[in-house]
Amino acid sequence: MNADASTSSDARGETSIEGYYRWHARIYDATRWSFLFGRTGILHEVAKVPAPARILEVGCGTGKNLVTLGRLFPQAEITGIDLSETMLDVARRKAVPFGSRIQLLHGAYGATQTVDAGYDLILFSYALSMFNPGFEAAIETAHRDLVPGGHVAVVDFHDTPLSVFERWMGVNHVRMSGQLRPPLQARFEAREDRLEAAFGGVWRYLVFVGRKG
Ligand SMILES: C[S@@+](CC[C@H](N)C(=O)[O-])C[C@H]1O[C@@H](n2cnc3c(N)ncnc32)[C@H](O)[C@@H]1O
Repeated sequence: MNADASTSSDARGETSIEGYYRWHARIYDATRWSFLFGRTGILHEVAKVPAPARILEVGCGTGKNLVTLGRLFPQAEITGIDLSETMLDVARRKAVPFGSRIQLLHGAYGATQTVDAGYDLILFSYALSMFNPGFEAAIETAHRDLVPGGHVAVVDFHDTPLSVFERWMGVNHVRMSGQLRPPLQARFEAREDRLEAAFGGVWRYLVFVGRKG
């Protein structure tokens, strides 16, 4: 498990996650549809909450979700933040048709980069499992950045019965030891909170939508 992948940097000032995505950004959209399950589903879950005027996606990557959010909520202002400039380069191209309605920020959420508070919806889609350490602080920051009554939506890896697979995901900066669900349940009133099996149980992923009370 990479102990401090999200914010510590090497001699060139690059975090290991930035280094990882400098190469993976090129193949990200062509490959991730095959195993990052539930990304479209969570956006349909969030469409059930009152239409958000201001949306933040933390770890927006190449911007797949930003585009869908832009279409689902045509009145909303949308911000995406990501640690990887290479991933953001791809997102920037996709955001062009949305003009100033989609803003992109580079940095580590809550650490090197702060965002305005007052969001109605904050989405973490396969991002929090890469915050090691830091997922609890990121959940706290999201709670702070939401308006009262605002919603957090999370889709992410949960756990696996296969230790070899867990180790392999650790090599890819992903922790999947069921660590995200308890702090989300503790901080938010759950509106949707379920685990789904992937590939017949090779792993489970979490779908969580919660309201800030
Ligand atoms: C697996 S990708 C998910 C991208 C997108 N949300 C999706 O669903 O396709 C995880 C993203 O989180 C970003 N990330 C990791 N740690 C971060 C941090 N501390 N702050 C902001 N972004 C971070 C990575 O750079 C990467 O683009």
